[in-house]
Amino acid sequence: MKVTVFGIGYVGLVQAAVLAEVGHEVCCVDVDAQKVENLKNGIIPIYEPGLTPLVQSNYEAGRLLFTTDAKEAVEFGELQFIAVGTPPDEDGSADLQYVQAVAKTIATYMPGPRIVIDKSTVPVGTGDKVKATIAETLAARGAELEYHVVSNPEFLKEGAAVSDCMRPDRIVIGTDSDHVKDVMTELYAPFNRNHDRIIFMDVRSAELTKYAANCMLATKISFMNEMANIAEMVGADIENVRNGIGSDERIGYHFIYPGCGYGGSCFPKDVQALVKTSEQIGYDSKILKAVEAVNAKQKTKLFELINRHFNGDIAGKTVALWGLSFKPKTDDMREASSRVLMQLLWEAGAKVQAYDPEAMEETQRIFGSRADLNLMGTKEAALNGADMLVICTEWQSFRAPDFDLIKAQLAEPVIFDGRNLYDPVRLADRGFSYYAIGRGLSIKQG
Ligand code: UDX
Repeated sequence: MKVTVFGIGYVGLVQAAVLAEVGHEVCCVDVDAQKVENLKNGIIPIYEPGLTPLVQSNYEAGRLLFTTDAKEAVEFGELQFIAVGTPPDEDGSADLQYVQAVAKTIATYMPGPRIVIDKSTVPVGTGDKVKATIAETLAARGAELEYHVVSNPEFLKEGAAVSDCMRPDRIVIGTDSDHVKDVMTELYAPFNRNHDRIIFMDVRSAELTKYAANCMLATKISFMNEMANIAEMVGADIENVRNGIGSDERIGYHFIYPGCGYGGSCFPKDVQALVKTSEQIGYDSKILKAVEAVNAKQKTKLFELINRHFNGDIAGKTVALWGLSFKPKTDDMREASSRVLMQLLWEAGAKVQAYDPEAMEETQRIFGSRADLNLMGTKEAALNGADMLVICTEWQSFRAPDFDLIKAQLAEPVIFDGRNLYDPVRLADRGFSYYAIGRGLSIKQG
């Protein structure tokens, strides 16, 4: 099948590459000419395991095309995916200007019937707005062409985007058209194996499904962070509690890891957007607001622990910081907890020596050169002459470090761990003050 994908970001590029991999012909279009040129030369704009070879081989095989020419792109595929960004507006609601601009472009150039598929995460009701834009634009052209607007949200996780897309646990499709159902079933047939993974529903339910999924996951995390704070104060260990509750199948072990807060391009934005949607319809979403507030507070948690340990005397201290990305296996820094921590440390007059396996360039891009930020080549180098070690991201390479070296390098053997990577008892035995999240027992020792 011939498919066009508008927007070569995370979602668009991964979706395009896997569709090409199973044999569809895919034309990717973006307004960023440099990005398009780079992709033609095999330069991928994001770090995502497995993506580079997938893009390169499908481009070489001629199944994956890159262009800035919107007219050519609209003419190319009967199926037109919209995968452009929906950044939060100043008030937290999703900004639909890019989605609407693409809808207009499609309607301006479509030479025949088109199925327009919304992949971007958009508020409930966007499908109708996109439909209206297409109708208006076609009317202005004096063209009477058949079109359908479909909601097909993505559920991919950064760092596992290619495998999530190749082996989706569900494919949600919002449409009321039997023709669209047939076409989408054919499109996704290569991914719909072992059991039927396609769930058809109406457009609005599909749009809300995406928000409900992300908000449920964000809720689990904020709930656990709240439990961790309680555990700490009552002298319990949240890691024991996590094990204790996760074994109940109704709760499960996934997404109950306490930490220094969730970040990324989805959870913060989607929780905010659903709060905003609720406001607009006159509904007071108490849980969602609390999820957001707990998370914002949790991002300051490491700073509070540091401040308490040093009795507020942080000015002039050097902080070795391991992990900058919002989670492992990505270079994405959007809404990362490390950013909140660094800002607070800088405001308090501390200096940061940071290391991350992938996000160094991104950090440099965001913060530029500043005297109180040194980006170091290795995790060991970050320790050099530092007063403390702080961990924001649970990269595998941080899980079994050389504790003797850490102790030798730090002015004082103290670790603040935002991801609960180590055993508090073993660290105490080695002479460390070890602060983690929700581990009251360790904090007493520290
Ligand atoms: C998320 C959803 O998982 C995905 O289904 C959706 O399509 C997009 O949003 P992503 O943002 O890539 O994916 O990352 P995810 O792995 O879900 O982690 C999000 C944040 O939550 C990270 O900052 C992570 O550290 C944090 N997290 C996750 C926790 O703090 N505790 C957990 O138990 C799980």
